[in-house]
Amino acid sequence: MSGKFVTFEGPEGSGKTTVLKGIVSLLKENNKEYLLTREPGGNRISEAIRNIILDTRLVEMDARTEALLYAAARRQHLIESVLPALKQGKLVLCDRYVDSSVVYQGAGRGLGEEEVLQMNLFATEGLTPDFTFYFDLLPEIGLARIKKHRQNEINRLDKESLDFHNTVHDAYLKLAHDNPERIIVIDASLPLSEVIKLTVNQMKIKLPDLFK
Ligand code: TYD
Repeated sequence: MSGKFVTFEGPEGSGKTTVLKGIVSLLKENNKEYLLTREPGGNRISEAIRNIILDTRLVEMDARTEALLYAAARRQHLIESVLPALKQGKLVLCDRYVDSSVVYQGAGRGLGEEEVLQMNLFATEGLTPDFTFYFDLLPEIGLARIKKHRQNEINRLDKESLDFHNTVHDAYLKLAHDNPERIIVIDASLPLSEVIKLTVNQMKIKLPDLFK
C-alpha cells in the first residue's frame, strides 16, 4: 500500500472538521492528491447505517448494537473508499476511525475498550492509521461550542450527559498516552487558526515529501 492513512479524533466541538478544511485547502494549493472522508458514512451503505446510528428518535438502541453498527459502517467505508485510495497512493484524511469506537462505545458505553478494539480489528483486518491527530478539549468547552454554533445538528451521541463525555475524554487521553508513536495530541482550546497551524506543522514533519 503506497498511500498514507491519517485519522482525526476528538470530542464534540473540538474543531477537527474545520481543521480538516484548512489542511485540504493547503493540499489543493500544492496540487496534492488526497481523499477527505468521514465516519460513519462515505458511501451508500455506511450513510444508511449513519442515519440509523445518529437518529435522535432511536432511544432504545442497545450499546452493542451501536458498536456493531459503527464497525459495519467502518468496514464498508474501508472497502469502498479508504483501501482503493491507499492503493492508488493517495493521502487519506479520515474524520474519526477505530479510536472513536474504543472511547465512545468501549469507555463511554462501558463495553470495554479492549473488547471493542478486538471487534474493530475483525472489521478492519487490523488496518491501523499511519498516524492520528487527537484534538484535546475539555467536554464542557466542546459542548458549549456546539450548542452555540450547531444547534440544528445535535445528534444522539451529542445528547449524552456530561459524565459520558468526560469518560470519553479520559479514554482519549489514555489512548494517546498508550500510543505516543501514533497519536499526536493537539491543544484544541487554542484559537482555531493556531490549531490549524500546529496540525499543518506536524503534517509537514510526518510527511516531508508531501509539502516539498
Ligand atoms: P458527527 O456528526 O460526524 O460528529 P463529529 O463532528 O463530532 O465527528 O457524528 C459522529 C458521532 O458519532 C460523534 O458523536 C461520535 C460518534 N461516534 C462513535 O460513538 N463511535 C464511532 O466509532 C464513531 C466513528 C463515531
